[in-house]
Amino acid sequence: MKKILVTGGLGFIGSHTVVELQNEGFEVVIIDDLSNSSLKVIDGITAITGKAPIFEKLDMKDQRALIDFFQRHDDISGVIHFAASKAVGESVQKPLHYYENNLNTLVYILKAVLGLQTSNIIFSSSCTVYGQADKMPITESAPIKPAESPYGNTKQIGEEIIKDVCKVENELKAIALRYFNPIGAHTSAKIGELPIGVPQNLVPFITQTAAGLRESLSVFGDDYPTPDGTCIRDYIHVVDLAKAHVVALKRLIANKNSSNFETFNIGTGVGSSVLEVIQSFERVSNQSLNYQFAPKREGDVISAYADTHKANSDLGWKAESTLDDAMKSAWDWEKKIRNL
Ligand code: UD1
Repeated sequence: MKKILVTGGLGFIGSHTVVELQNEGFEVVIIDDLSNSSLKVIDGITAITGKAPIFEKLDMKDQRALIDFFQRHDDISGVIHFAASKAVGESVQKPLHYYENNLNTLVYILKAVLGLQTSNIIFSSSCTVYGQADKMPITESAPIKPAESPYGNTKQIGEEIIKDVCKVENELKAIALRYFNPIGAHTSAKIGELPIGVPQNLVPFITQTAAGLRESLSVFGDDYPTPDGTCIRDYIHVVDLAKAHVVALKRLIANKNSSNFETFNIGTGVGSSVLEVIQSFERVSNQSLNYQFAPKREGDVISAYADTHKANSDLGWKAESTLDDAMKSAWDWEKKIRNL
C-alpha cells in the first residue's frame, strides 16, 4: 500500500481527495495546521471510508517540524500539496502572510520531496493564473496574465518555482492542477465546505442564504457582456476534482508523465452564469432564493471556463457530475450542518 502525504488534508478539497485516495487503496497521512479546518473532518472521512487517515497537526512554516516529519515518514511515495491560504481579498490586506504561507512552505516541501525515494508532487493551482483569458474555452497554453491579487500571484510564482526546480532535478516529477470553481460536497453529506465567517464564494453564500444565515445574496453585476449579464464560471463538483488528483498521482507513480512538469485544467468544460447557478439551486432545493443585483465586484473576470481536452486524453479523467448534482450535494451538506 503506497503512502501518500496530503498537506491541508482537512480542508475542503483536501478532505474529499483523502476519501478518494483511501477508496483507491492508498495509505494517507495528513498534515494540517487547522487554521481553516476542523479535527471533526477526520470523523467524516473515517465514516465514509471505514478507515481513519493518519493525522499530524503541523504548521509547514516551521521547516524544522517538517524535516522532522519526513524523517519519521521517509516511505512516502507522493505528496498532494493543498495547504495554502486562499482568500483573494484577505491576500490584498496581508500580502506577506500570503507569500510566506503559500510560497515559503512550497520551497520547504519541495526540498523535503527531493529527499524521498520517489519525488512526486501534485500542486494546487488555479484558473486564476489565466486572468481574463482572450479565448474561451481556456486551454493550458493560454497566456498567463498579470496576477490581480497576491493570492493569484502565489499560484503563478508557485508554478514557476516548481518548473525551475524540475529543470535541474531530473528525479522530481510534478503536476500542477489548475482548478476552475470547485463546489458541492460528498454525496454522503459527511464532509463538505466549512467557510469561516461570511463566505466570499458564490455557492456557500447561496446555501447559507437559503438556510437563513444570510438575508439575501448579492449578485455582483448585471450588465456584463454575457447572455444574461452575469459572470460565467466553470463550476466543478469537488468529488470530480478530488478524483482528478488521484489519477494525476497515479500518472506520476506509473511514470506516465510526458515531461517532469505538467499542467492540467480541471473543470467541466461548461460555463454557467451566476443566474444559472441560482436557478439550479432553486430546482434542486425546490425553493426560491432571495437575491438582488449589486455593483460589480472588483477584480472579477467576465468569463472563465476550461478546455478539458488535455485532462480528458492524458489523464483519462472527465468530470461526471452536472451542476444540479453539485448544487444538490452542497444543499444536502448545508442542511446537515444546520440540522434542517
Ligand atoms: C474566486 C477567486 C479566485 C479563487 C477562487 C477560489 C476572485 C476574483 N477570484 O473565484 O481567484 O481561485 O475564488 O475559490 O475572488 N458572486 C456573486 N455574489 C457573491 C459571490 C460571488 O455574484 O456573493 C459571483 C462572482 O461575481 C463570480 C461568481 O459568483 O461571478 C463566482 O464567484 P466566486 O465563487 O467568488 O469565485 P471566483 O470569483 O470565480
